[in-house]
Amino acid sequence: MDKIVVDCQGSLSGKVEISGAKNAALPILMGCLLAETPVTLSNVPHLMDVTTTIQLLASMGVEVEFDERLNIELDASVVTSKEAPYELVTTMRASILVLGPLLGRFGEAKVSLPGGCAIGSRPVDIHIKGMQAMGADIQVEEGYILAKMNGRLQGADISMTPVTVTGTENLLMAAVLAEGTTTLRNAAREPEVTDLAEFLNKMGAKISGLGTSTLVIEGVESLKGVEYSVIPDRIEAGTYLAAAAVAKSKVTVTKVNPEHLGIVLEKFEEAGAEITCTEDTITLDMRDRDLKPVSLVTDPYPLFPTDMQAQFLVMNALADGVSTIQETIFENRFMHVSELARMGADISIEGNTATIRGVKSLKGAPVMATDLRASASLIIAGLVAEGQTVVNRVYHIDRGYELIEEKFHKIGAHIYRTN
Ligand code: EPU
Repeated sequence: MDKIVVDCQGSLSGKVEISGAKNAALPILMGCLLAETPVTLSNVPHLMDVTTTIQLLASMGVEVEFDERLNIELDASVVTSKEAPYELVTTMRASILVLGPLLGRFGEAKVSLPGGCAIGSRPVDIHIKGMQAMGADIQVEEGYILAKMNGRLQGADISMTPVTVTGTENLLMAAVLAEGTTTLRNAAREPEVTDLAEFLNKMGAKISGLGTSTLVIEGVESLKGVEYSVIPDRIEAGTYLAAAAVAKSKVTVTKVNPEHLGIVLEKFEEAGAEITCTEDTITLDMRDRDLKPVSLVTDPYPLFPTDMQAQFLVMNALADGVSTIQETIFENRFMHVSELARMGADISIEGNTATIRGVKSLKGAPVMATDLRASASLIIAGLVAEGQTVVNRVYHIDRGYELIEEKFHKIGAHIYRTN
């Protein structure tokens, strides 16, 4: 199994080009199931989860082609299977996102029920209840969600608690072809949800309230294929900026939308960094500055993202003072803490709160994590830990970070893959 080896490196410098957002690309790819004519997508990142999604769509009969610029054309005019099998759903929970489009367009879907995962139990009850409110008959049998609807789904007034990103996306995709108006209340406001809504609207859907917590969807009879470019990955951008902060360096991320990182950039400033933005770049300068501890609570957008929690935890582990990080989204998203402790970090956990007492330095060690962002945080720690850090179970990183070694090389990191 591949490993990533990280050697301690004094400082980083230069530019990193940010890829398209994984968590926008996945629902948009699934959304292609709704279109009766071909869709062409650009800025789709080359990641394991994207490959898995394409395999899933191809297994349903969607024709997938890549052009010379690696844009993806997806033709879902003929869909032969309406099933997401266990084998694919277990490798990628986001496969649940085929439920809404399949049910909305074809009135049937069979999707393996995703189990819990490393970061929490992650139920999908809100997805199911929302579709039932739209009139669907949904049974869970032998580990599969079996969904059926005679005729079109019916518009409904649906309130979702807690706020759920993929739940909002699934119900949005179910509602666009429903008869009548659907209102989604307490909807997730993440930029990735808005990107999906913009894509659906371009295909002919009638969604209003984009970017707010109330989405109103007037059902239409059909959707047509369009060309669409996926938004930049705000979490990938934030991860490289966190690496620069930890390494007390100056790094610029390009091809980003700084507006998507509002509170994260404020927290970098609180940590002592100087942040400068243009329309599509962010520069973080931490040279000759000391990392200050930053306490934070993860919450749905526009508040601090859980997907940046592990990276800030590493910054705090090396800051001068004590901080707390409260994780409110996933109950088990601190598995990087015990690995960081093996590298010399001083962190204790009580309930959903980590208390971090900054140390002067970390020491390299073999480590592993069972979650994408936790793995990225261990690479960041390895950049400044004395000696060598070997991050095992690299496949988690490949699910969500495109060309991570190449991008780190470009800014001067000593990092390579081995097996
Ligand atoms: N929840 C329920 N019932 C549901 C759905 C969710 O109780 O039916 C709970 C979850 O258990 C959790 C909370 O609601 O406690 C929020 O979960 P959410 O549904 O928003 O998470 P998700 O949609 O499964 C997406 C991202 C995650 C990201 C979270 C939070 C995708 C494909 N995944 O997950 O991304 O952490 O939103 O922002 O969009 C990652 O990229 O590393 C990643 C894990």
